[in-house]
Amino acid sequence: MRDVLPEEIPIWERLESVARVLAGRFGYREIRPPLLEDTKLFIRSVGEVTDIVEKEMFTLEKGDGSLTLRPEGTAGIARAYLEAGYQHKAPLQRLFTIGPMFRYERPQKGRERQFTQFDVECLGSLDPRLDAELVDLAARFFEELGLEQVEVRINSMGDGADRDQYRDAVRMFLLPHMAERCDLCRSRFERNVLRVLDCKNETCRELNRDAPRLIDCLTPDNRGHFEAVQSALTAIGRKAQVDPGIVRGLDYYTRTVFELHAPALGARSALCGGGRYDHLLRDLGGPDLGAVGFAIGFSGTLVVLEQLGLSAKVSPKLLDVYAIAADESAREAVWKLASELRSAGFATVYDVEQKSLKAQMKQAGGGAYRFALVLGERELAENSVQVKHLATGRQQGVVRANLVSVLRTMLLEGA
Ligand code: HAM
Repeated sequence: MRDVLPEEIPIWERLESVARVLAGRFGYREIRPPLLEDTKLFIRSVGEVTDIVEKEMFTLEKGDGSLTLRPEGTAGIARAYLEAGYQHKAPLQRLFTIGPMFRYERPQKGRERQFTQFDVECLGSLDPRLDAELVDLAARFFEELGLEQVEVRINSMGDGADRDQYRDAVRMFLLPHMAERCDLCRSRFERNVLRVLDCKNETCRELNRDAPRLIDCLTPDNRGHFEAVQSALTAIGRKAQVDPGIVRGLDYYTRTVFELHAPALGARSALCGGGRYDHLLRDLGGPDLGAVGFAIGFSGTLVVLEQLGLSAKVSPKLLDVYAIAADESAREAVWKLASELRSAGFATVYDVEQKSLKAQMKQAGGGAYRFALVLGERELAENSVQVKHLATGRQQGVVRANLVSVLRTMLLEGA
């Protein structure tokens, strides 16, 4: 888990603001579910036999039950949707959240144990245009940040009859070589055979290479849905590559699944993952309404922005004023001036370390402030303030009573 230091906040704010603006433009409303949920919620949604539930959850046993720090956002949003009763009053809900998720993973570049997701969910409909809408929203997020080389990969996981048939086909395919596989695969073969296909072990991955593909046995209904998603994407000029290898590591997915990849990130290049989860609401005790969503990880996005030199383009936030006491006699006046400027809405800082005039000027010129204001014996006597615009070095004396309006004008003029 890592700290986000003040120097990194501007780029974080940029990601958050792009996310919020885009979500708003697509009609998605913010929802903020809690970070802790009943452990059973994740077992029922993400699935008991998955990496997340078997190995990665931070779980707290409390007297009255078991709580887990959310490893992902979809389950909590679906639960909140049902608890709020949207299924009765307004079933189609476009929702998003931005916040921390927790997984006990091996930390590496772009993967952390506490990480932030921009999670977008559209609940209450089976319409294939929504799958396309979400792919489009996710792709625009990266484009807006200046990342042009993000690839969209889509696949269909089927649902119902084709899924059952596929499970049998995978079992038949795996059976002859089960002895060569890792212990986890052997146990998953019995408990959740499809998860054998996303084992990370090298030998197992090699054995999975020629596994049957669900996309080859889709029912006409599910094939039609998948084709409709692709046509909806083509209609808006959004390119998506069909990749039968996208199987996703969570059990709730049905039909469309997709990932957005940045080839620059290498093997674990997914910046975004999502898809349909048409039966999750039903599995959590609600009606069978259909839903689709995705989550973008900020950590991976930041790594790619950094690699491409795009994070440096986000300018740090400047404070308006650094107020300087030129000599001892002005300290009290600077303290009062700072208070007055803060009341007038200017972000203002002053010296509390009794530094020399020269040291204070150096501090002011360090790149964090727009203006240095200097008060000394002479300014006190004349009822004025020296105002230095730090970017240009221009300096002028301003009558004390006019200071606020002069600063406002200069800021409005883009100083
Ligand atoms: P996911 O593929 O597990 O899907 O995660 C989505 C994205 O979150 C990943 O592509 C990655 O960018 C980021 N991510 C995941 N784990 C980590 C980690 N340990 N450190 C940094 N980033 C990470 C889900 O979470 C689904 N809930 C997505 C979804 C929403 N499906 C439907 N609706």
